[in-house]
Amino acid sequence: MATAPKKIKATPKHQSKKAAKHKPAELNEAQIAVHWKEEQYLYPSKEFIAQANLSDKKLVRKFDEKNFPDCFVEYANLLDWDHKWNKVLDTSHAPFWKWFVGGKLNACYNCVDRHLAKHKNKAAFIFVPEPENEAATVITYQELYKRVNETAAMLRDFAGLKNGDRVTIHMPMIPELPITMLACARIGVVHSVVFGGFSGEACGLRAADSGSRVLIYADGYYRNGKWIDHKGNADIAVATAKKECQDIEKVLIWKRYPGKRMSEVAMVAGRDFFVDEVIKDYAGQTVAPVSQDAEAPLFLMYTSGTTGKPKGCQHRTGGYLAYVAGTTKYYQDIHPDDVYWCMADIGWITGHSYIVYGPLALGATSVLYEGVPQFPDAGRPWRIAERLDVNIFHTSPTAIRMLRKAGADEPKKYNYHFKHMTTVGEPIEPEVFRWYHEVVGKREAVIVDTWWQTETGGFLCTTKPALEPMKPGSAGPPALGIYPVIWDENSEEVKAGSGRAGNICIRNPWPGIMQTIWGDPERFVRQYYAKYNKHPKSKDWRDWPYYAADGAMLAADGYYRILGRVDDVINVAGHRLGTKEVESACLTVPEIAEAAVVPIVDEVKGRVPVVYIALKPGVPANKAIQDKVISTIETMIGKIARPKMIHIVPDMPKTRSGKIMRRVLAAISNHMDTGDITTLANPDIVEQIRELVQGRSRGPVQEGPEDIKMFGEER
Ligand code: WTA
Repeated sequence: MATAPKKIKATPKHQSKKAAKHKPAELNEAQIAVHWKEEQYLYPSKEFIAQANLSDKKLVRKFDEKNFPDCFVEYANLLDWDHKWNKVLDTSHAPFWKWFVGGKLNACYNCVDRHLAKHKNKAAFIFVPEPENEAATVITYQELYKRVNETAAMLRDFAGLKNGDRVTIHMPMIPELPITMLACARIGVVHSVVFGGFSGEACGLRAADSGSRVLIYADGYYRNGKWIDHKGNADIAVATAKKECQDIEKVLIWKRYPGKRMSEVAMVAGRDFFVDEVIKDYAGQTVAPVSQDAEAPLFLMYTSGTTGKPKGCQHRTGGYLAYVAGTTKYYQDIHPDDVYWCMADIGWITGHSYIVYGPLALGATSVLYEGVPQFPDAGRPWRIAERLDVNIFHTSPTAIRMLRKAGADEPKKYNYHFKHMTTVGEPIEPEVFRWYHEVVGKREAVIVDTWWQTETGGFLCTTKPALEPMKPGSAGPPALGIYPVIWDENSEEVKAGSGRAGNICIRNPWPGIMQTIWGDPERFVRQYYAKYNKHPKSKDWRDWPYYAADGAMLAADGYYRILGRVDDVINVAGHRLGTKEVESACLTVPEIAEAAVVPIVDEVKGRVPVVYIALKPGVPANKAIQDKVISTIETMIGKIARPKMIHIVPDMPKTRSGKIMRRVLAAISNHMDTGDITTLANPDIVEQIRELVQGRSRGPVQEGPEDIKMFGEER
């Protein structure tokens, strides 16, 4: 095994004056990314290699570019189709690709029904409640089938939902969440799951955008030892949707404990219904899975982009399911006897692809954990792993950093054995990677660092776990059938081993890529394809590279290192936050004239937002305004967006045309060189702000308006 190379300290100072000369127009996530040096490889064990799903180089060669797009039939063949496709890829409406055209299938059938013949008594989910004295419950494939059918009958006959309708689901990590998603898929209803920790207002806006008439909620859940009453968010969501001219007719509320009233919030007669009461009428009913067109939308997932409004990424049924089934099989390496635990929230794309659709399509057993990783202490994940004999584990760098900080020796106390682990969602520091490998993985587990996005449906870059060594800090080579390229701003290719960073793009379409942005096809083209497209009329996929908005470097060995976002998106604890969203929220506070949000490097969460505000003339700066800004952000978005600091400044650094120079603010907050500021309209303000921020930030008073919650506690 390779020895761990010497650690270099990644302070912001590494951003030398020389680097600052090549400064880009804006300082973004990619530019504040730490500059790690090349790391040595780590190798998978012989035992892992001997049993791996992806060990045959012949399969890898099938995905050579010359076999594109037919190579993806390999993935489609993992599914049961009601009707086979007649064309693998149709590019006639570029870049609105169509995959497996003419094919018909049902996603719920593929995830549930087809496993009954052989595996009906196998656990599909093992649900672990957060309170440790509450026993885990097992949901077998047979039980899942029953519950999904009853739910589908209720959604169809009680809620009046039909094929093509959208429904918004705002639920925590309880089994009823995937049950509801699968019930939707069964009857062709497009689900839009909103992360449970988002505010009612955020849910209402998304519900309105998707045109949902029905909301599905849970009464509450446990989070960090506390009962969270969630029902009230439904009332806020309904009111918010109404303001956007969208009427919500019904709100269906699952109870965390069926038969027991836990929420203290009143029910609205004729609108709100408890599922445990309604579903009794559908006991034992079955609903035939609707045979869907491969291109029928399966779900929407809203994510932050460069504008204030989150966008609904629309994913297709056939291509998406094929892509997540294939990547789950070959990269998550799930075998029939494995116990797989992805410690993400289903409210994010990771949960959709790698807790629900991918693992269930393969008939896997997967763990659903309700709570935060460190409750009641940092040993909890390892106790769960030991107790349930989990052997495949999947989490984010933020969770790893946090568990390491809270209990670096905890894993050693527990007798579990992982063969495989995943890291996803943000760049992982080599040092953190090595702790994950040595302590959590006990040097037995292989690790895949998977780079991808809400838009991409599944993995884009990752090592093939048995075939390619790990390199701490680098996601690795492209996934099967993915052909990336890095270009600079002038469309010049940034070559392997050049030591330079650029914009990573994917040259070809793949089945997991989103279909469009719900209701906004122009934005879809503009945001993801316009940048490097030279022939807007072309129907050749080669003219339509996908622009990922991530900075990356390519090493001589073909490994990609992802540096972070190059747009106005901040990756907070692996979750996307649009700076414009937060700024729009700030500007609703009447005293505020201007707001700018920038990312700062955080030891645990990777990045956190810092807010700069300038007040309207005559408004005195005080703590009350800071508090107001925080509560407004939490109400409009959720606790996840809570800023680490709020700086009230006399004015913003601006260009002569009046544009706020966020890069200058980001540089100050991160103690970095501000670069050339001579072109500013008000260069003097920079020194004033620096003094205000850096002078103050040394003292403990600047440690945020309140304690900043760790990953998993953002609710
Ligand atoms: C970042 C999460 C480095 C990246 C699946 C991307 C990563 C954004 C990695 C998407 C990784 C994701 N290494 N950065 N392994 N995985 N990212 O849509 O900046 O929530 O653009 O999807 O997370 O976040 P999203």
